[in-house]
Amino acid sequence: MKPKIIVTGGCGYIGSHTVIALIENNYEVVIIDDLSNSSEQIIDRITRITGLKPIFENVDLKDIKSTKQVFGNHRDANAVIHFAAHKAVAESVQEPLKYYQNNLYSLINTLISQKENGINNIIFSSSATVYGNPNILPITEKSETQRPFSPYGNTKKMAEEIIEDVVNVSTDFSAISLRYFNPIGAHPSGLIGELPSGTPNNLMPFITQTAAGVREKLMVYGNDYPTKDGTPIRDYIHVVDLAEAHVIAVNRLIEKKQEKQFEIFNLGTGDGYSVLEIINAFESISGKPLNYEITDRRAGDVPKLYADINLAKEKLGWTAKRGLTEMIGSSWKWEQNIRK
Ligand SMILES: NC(=O)c1ccc[n+]([C@@H]2O[C@H](COP(=O)([O-])OP(=O)(O)OC[C@H]3O[C@@H](n4cnc5c(N)ncnc54)[C@H](O)[C@@H]3O)[C@@H](O)[C@H]2O)c1
Repeated sequence: MKPKIIVTGGCGYIGSHTVIALIENNYEVVIIDDLSNSSEQIIDRITRITGLKPIFENVDLKDIKSTKQVFGNHRDANAVIHFAAHKAVAESVQEPLKYYQNNLYSLINTLISQKENGINNIIFSSSATVYGNPNILPITEKSETQRPFSPYGNTKKMAEEIIEDVVNVSTDFSAISLRYFNPIGAHPSGLIGELPSGTPNNLMPFITQTAAGVREKLMVYGNDYPTKDGTPIRDYIHVVDLAEAHVIAVNRLIEKKQEKQFEIFNLGTGDGYSVLEIINAFESISGKPLNYEITDRRAGDVPKLYADINLAKEKLGWTAKRGLTEMIGSSWKWEQNIRK
């Protein structure tokens, strides 16, 4: 029998790529998503890519009653990968309660429903934002966490603390928190990718939308940071590499290979690229000049963030395989497909 994985937020950007990787690695998948930031079309696209249709449950995880019910229907699941969350940093500053309500209730209801049904493994989608503005680079998992600038970031920090507390009193409950750096790129088929609603918060969709003519101009927030060209440096990671790391992590939980009940791993490439380097790389890969403007710094942006990736390499046997050309090329292919 195939191991069964519940993927919350499985219609979203990272979730959908992970669902594909799970199906390709012989897992049965149940997606729980309320489609608040995605569409049911994704299920058809996953089916086209993999030849197998995942089970889909349209449930809002903020609702404890329907969450308990849906988990009860899948109590034979071996693990949960919890992606479901709102993620727009700027919106979270304006509407903090919306973020605390959605991201924390969803997690708490998921954990309650897992415990009720004996589904004792969870992978949690965390973020490098929990490190705040670190003094020492590269960032290791031992680096101190700081209160993140945004309520969105704070939901990630609080969620990790909630999971840790649950694990501490449950000998049979295990968790892995994966702290993503900057996921970009899309599936090589061009059928799925990142689809931000409204103005993108992240650089890559902003670049591709500008090149596609959806936006007039790309804004570069600040060129006076203490970096090589003055623009912020981030650790970009291909979403398909990220998806593959989830398959390895879930297998580690199911096969009880963990060294601790609650483990944390950074997921990045360990390389940092500045905003201007990404823009230049995009222009040369796509052959499209970008209309961009340097403007004021954006509140909450830090100069440099890149990961120490040795722990994931050593314990998970995982490293990112795809470089900047594949990241940018696949993002551009996806953008061109959605504009057709
Ligand atoms: N994309 C990034 O840059 C990034 C970086 C670090 C961490 N993360 C985290 O990774 C996870 C996935 O991010 P993504 O980029 O795929 O986001 P996404 O918005 O594309 O996907 C999230 C999915 O969760 C669903 N969802 C949200 N609230 C829900 C609820 N109450 N009940 C059921 N479904 C709900 C949405 O409809 C969406 O399909 C999130 O937890 C995010 O915070 C993302």
